Amino acid sequence: MQSWLRRKDIDKLTVHEEGRRLVPTLGWPHLVALGIGAIVGTGIYTLIGVGADKAGPAVLLSFIVAGVVCACAALAYAEMSTMMPAAGSAYTYSYTVLGEAIAWIVGWSLILEYSLVVSTVAVGWSGYFAGFLQWVHTQTGWNVMLPTALMAGPHAGGVINLPAIVITFLVAGMLIAGTRESATLNAILVVFKLIALAVFIVVALPAFDSANLTPFMPYGFPKSIDAEGVERGVMAAAAIIFFAFYGFDAISTAAEETKNPGRDLSIGIIGSMVGCTLIYVLVALAAVGAMTFTVFGKSAEPLALIMRELGHPQAALVIGIVAVIALPTVLLAFFYGQSRIFFVMSRDGLLPRSLSKVNPRTGTPVAITLFTAVLVAALAGVARLDEIAALANAGTLVAFIAVSVCMLVLRKRDPNRPRVFRTPMAWVVGPLAIFGCLYLFWSLPHTTQKWFLVWNVVGVIVYVLYSRRASLLAKGQNV
Ligand code: ALA
Repeated sequence: MQSWLRRKDIDKLTVHEEGRRLVPTLGWPHLVALGIGAIVGTGIYTLIGVGADKAGPAVLLSFIVAGVVCACAALAYAEMSTMMPAAGSAYTYSYTVLGEAIAWIVGWSLILEYSLVVSTVAVGWSGYFAGFLQWVHTQTGWNVMLPTALMAGPHAGGVINLPAIVITFLVAGMLIAGTRESATLNAILVVFKLIALAVFIVVALPAFDSANLTPFMPYGFPKSIDAEGVERGVMAAAAIIFFAFYGFDAISTAAEETKNPGRDLSIGIIGSMVGCTLIYVLVALAAVGAMTFTVFGKSAEPLALIMRELGHPQAALVIGIVAVIALPTVLLAFFYGQSRIFFVMSRDGLLPRSLSKVNPRTGTPVAITLFTAVLVAALAGVARLDEIAALANAGTLVAFIAVSVCMLVLRKRDPNRPRVFRTPMAWVVGPLAIFGCLYLFWSLPHTTQKWFLVWNVVGVIVYVLYSRRASLLAKGQNV
């Protein structure tokens, strides 16, 4: 077999993992909470503004398109994760089904995804934190505000986004200290996040004015580029809004701990996806119905801004405080995912083995977490929210395509292998996920696609010069 096509042995993968099975204790309500906890974040709290700016009131359709594509990919994830309950998700499935070179590209894309999600959520958090400081200042007269130069990156009239940097290092510190997501804390914060969105809907919906919805689709459906070179249209917005939907990896990685995976995983994944899509569409409907989208389209804290504009500063405060305390859990989930993907790739020998060294006391990879924190914080300090979100989406779309392809290839190659969870109508759902992701990728800004290509060219060079030979599979070891 050509070296770049070499694959891990699916049976050894399972045997290896079965030796240390986790105790199945989770039911579907836990999975729904886990999913919503990692999914609801900067996407709905902040990028909704960017989406409305790109699509107008038709951002509602963008939410539906992105939600449907994500739900299809999520089903493929469920099938693969129950067959291969091993660390590394999309990377590991690709290594087993599609071969090492594709797995490398998927892993390299996941590194990009996880890092940039952390940067994006840190910047989103900073927007709400600034609003909160402003509120404290007006209430108390205390001089808590930082100078603008330290509150935003150069694109927004500042020099550096200090709060985004600080929150990144705080979360990195928690991970280094060995913090794991606590199921109870996660459940509490999920409830808070949902209450804040419910407050938004309840306050904004009565202000609904259908005049705000016309024209409904001012920039058309497919991606188009306006006179200023900005991508617009329902699909351009969907390609960004897509950010709001992912994070359900969290559910598929819990497959091993699920009591009745066949039923609970499908309820967990479909439940959290359908739940989030419904909530998101209601939030979007309330937002674009309450005022002209141009009012909040460019805000760093659009939901709070809408509340204030409608004359409800208390509701704005609730939303702001919940965003400030709850968004760091999304950071924690993705930062953890980042170190785990590094870990698995280096354990396979594709990245230097030294990267998977863990601190004997805390069991955490300290060096790699700090290294990631520096890069991610640097980016969060200066980058534009929508640009980094778009690049994170590009990496995620590649992973989703790979997982859906893996599912279909295995259905053909190994139809009789037991499947704890079977994607319903796989030959409709799989292609829908693949083509949906391709269409979303095509709808991303041109600059994003260019940077994604650059990232992968670097990746391919690293693979050819280093990983191909250092791979443990190349040395005849199946890991
Ligand atoms: N879906 C996550 C968020 O919106 C990444 O923050």
